[in-house]
Amino acid sequence: MGVTLGIDIGTSGTKTLAIDGRGKILATASSEYPCAHPKPGWSEQDPDLWWAATVATIRDVLSKAELKPAEVSGVGLSGQMHGSVFLDADGHVIRPALLWNDQRTAAECEEIEEKAGGREGLIRMVGNPALTGFTAPKILWVRKHEPKNWDKVKHILLPKDYIRYRLSGTFATEVSDASGTLLLDVAHRRWSKELLRKLDLDASLMPDCFESPDVSATVSAIGSEASGLSIGTPIVGGAGDQPAGAVGNGIVRPGVVSATMGTSGVVFAHTSEPGFDPLGRLQRGCHAVPGAWHVMGVVLAAGGSFQWLRNELGDIEVEAAKARHTDPYFLLTEEAALAGPGCEGLFFLPYLTGERTPHFDPQARGGWIGLTVRHGREHLIRSVLEGATYAMRDCLELIREMGVDLAQIRLSGGGARNPMWKQIQADVYGQDVCTINAGEGPAFGVALLAQVGTGGFSSVPEACDATIEVVETTKTEPAARAIYDRSYPIFRKIYRDLKGTFREIAELVGG
Ligand code: XUL
Repeated sequence: MGVTLGIDIGTSGTKTLAIDGRGKILATASSEYPCAHPKPGWSEQDPDLWWAATVATIRDVLSKAELKPAEVSGVGLSGQMHGSVFLDADGHVIRPALLWNDQRTAAECEEIEEKAGGREGLIRMVGNPALTGFTAPKILWVRKHEPKNWDKVKHILLPKDYIRYRLSGTFATEVSDASGTLLLDVAHRRWSKELLRKLDLDASLMPDCFESPDVSATVSAIGSEASGLSIGTPIVGGAGDQPAGAVGNGIVRPGVVSATMGTSGVVFAHTSEPGFDPLGRLQRGCHAVPGAWHVMGVVLAAGGSFQWLRNELGDIEVEAAKARHTDPYFLLTEEAALAGPGCEGLFFLPYLTGERTPHFDPQARGGWIGLTVRHGREHLIRSVLEGATYAMRDCLELIREMGVDLAQIRLSGGGARNPMWKQIQADVYGQDVCTINAGEGPAFGVALLAQVGTGGFSSVPEACDATIEVVETTKTEPAARAIYDRSYPIFRKIYRDLKGTFREIAELVGG
């Protein structure tokens, strides 16, 4: 069993790690980059930033783990989903990629549903309704608003697939990430020729589509020179960051779900059937496990809300953290602990970049509701953690309603590393939650997929069983749970009450 690399092209940075054949992490490296917001609701990134971070972190990991390139038997790629990279005939990037949290495409979503014969018709074809973050509406936006750029487009890739192209020269993707383009027939795990035709999109724009553990490409001479990997190193399909993270959390069987607080927050469940919900209230897609599917709810700014708080209001903690050589998030939660559960009626709506599940509303806005003179900084901080967690509960409730078994909730992301946020999650979800030994999420998940694809394990569940176990359980505290059970319906009502006002605010600022 050889060493494999997992590379995750995230929104705030790229993370690369190496694991051995038993799943032991040998080294990790990460490199951050910015995200541009040229207009309200827009979100873009230059794919060259991802490439620079990828080669830097691969080299870093090889050196930290003292690995010779020939010792790497395979590479797995993961990344932020839905982003659209537009390439010309020479494989050059035409314009910055539009990202998953970009909200500019409301009109294109309507157009897609109309051309598909309505929302239900679209869901029948591709498993999902048209959501502003998905890839297809972005393609239509560029076609409509930037015709000069559109004329040059010959290839459309997802973020991690652009890295595959730079490493190998091969245009390829895999079913889990392709599910988030809105152009994949999720039930049959292949591009939807029907929808491509209805949208007048040439099928040759889309790359070949593999199953996640299958070898899709090998490192080219150019890729080798840049990254330090050996020519011919196999690159498996990999997975979008959420299905990849699910593999990394062992969500490969019914009954175990994950709640991940990254920039976005995601509740993810494994399903044995593609399923069909005419209302499309949850995202559906192919799982990175061949023959399996997933259902997930996505909160656009979960950890992202906490990050915003740190950036905009956390100067004191950021400075103090430098002096104490600690993490500013821990100082912020230390302060939040001074406020009790429910924050004396203070609520935070985490819709800082609109919201996906359950509202599908690009114009939703964030905010604090319920402030009184008694509230202090500790309440402001705690309410952000609680607001993001209530929004995650919205997703859990929808999954529960579908009859999916939620016997075990596994936490991951920043919210799983912070004891106080873990407790808030146990109390808001109303059920014990646990954490596992593998805390590296998507990068670990795709390193495991690379193990499967290069013969280290015979299946994805086998790889997970051999490497992942529950290490800690956080129990629900009944008193806090009772407070949250009474507060949660109010959280839900605030959005309903303000929905019309959010629309007016968005019109006011043209966003
Ligand atoms: C999933 C989603 C986000 C991105 C960014 O549908 O939009 O989780 O993948 O991480």
